[in-house]
Amino acid sequence: DDHDHHDGQDDHELRVSKIRSGTVIDHVRGGQALNVLAILGIDGSDGEEVSVGMNVPSDRFARKDIVKVEGRELSQDEVDVLSLIAPDATINIVREYEVVEKHRVERPDVVEGVLSCPNATCITTGDEPVTSRFEVLEDGVRCSYCETIVRDEIPSLIDT
Ligand code: CTP
Ligand code: ZN
Repeated sequence: DDHDHHDGQDDHELRVSKIRSGTVIDHVRGGQALNVLAILGIDGSDGEEVSVGMNVPSDRFARKDIVKVEGRELSQDEVDVLSLIAPDATINIVREYEVVEKHRVERPDVVEGVLSCPNATCITTGDEPVTSRFEVLEDGVRCSYCETIVRDEIPSLIDT
């Protein structure tokens, strides 16, 4: 049926198995899957069941990455940070093999308390507790306090 041909994945081509219950992060920009895992704090050491497809064929983009996490739903903070590196991602919540919820990530205007500023002299990295705050730009984020702009290193600044 028509459904099977989405993203060029027909029966011979399905590269990553379906999951039973959990989250599928689909339409991730090619090359960003490992950063998605970093944002979710997944490095395999907690025994989480995770499947990753990298640079698989896609209708919407030439190539996409896909991350499937069994037994886990994502927090809004996690989705907000994901949107910074995977602005076109779709979050699919799966229960008993069915997609029960699907939404596109939305880029927030501001992210607060989820990234730490890389500038050692920034007020947010000092002894006084100041919640980090970054404005979201087209191609990165800017610290509201010291104006440092971060692009590629976003995943390494996740405050967890
Ligand atoms: N998926 C999965 N396990 C399931 C159900 C779905 O891994 N039990 C995956 C599919 O392989 C797909 C994504 O979740 O990558 C979304 O599934 P679905 O909505 O059925 O696919 P599409 O209609 O192709 O999605 P979209 O329109 O968002 O591209
Ligand atoms: Zn700063």
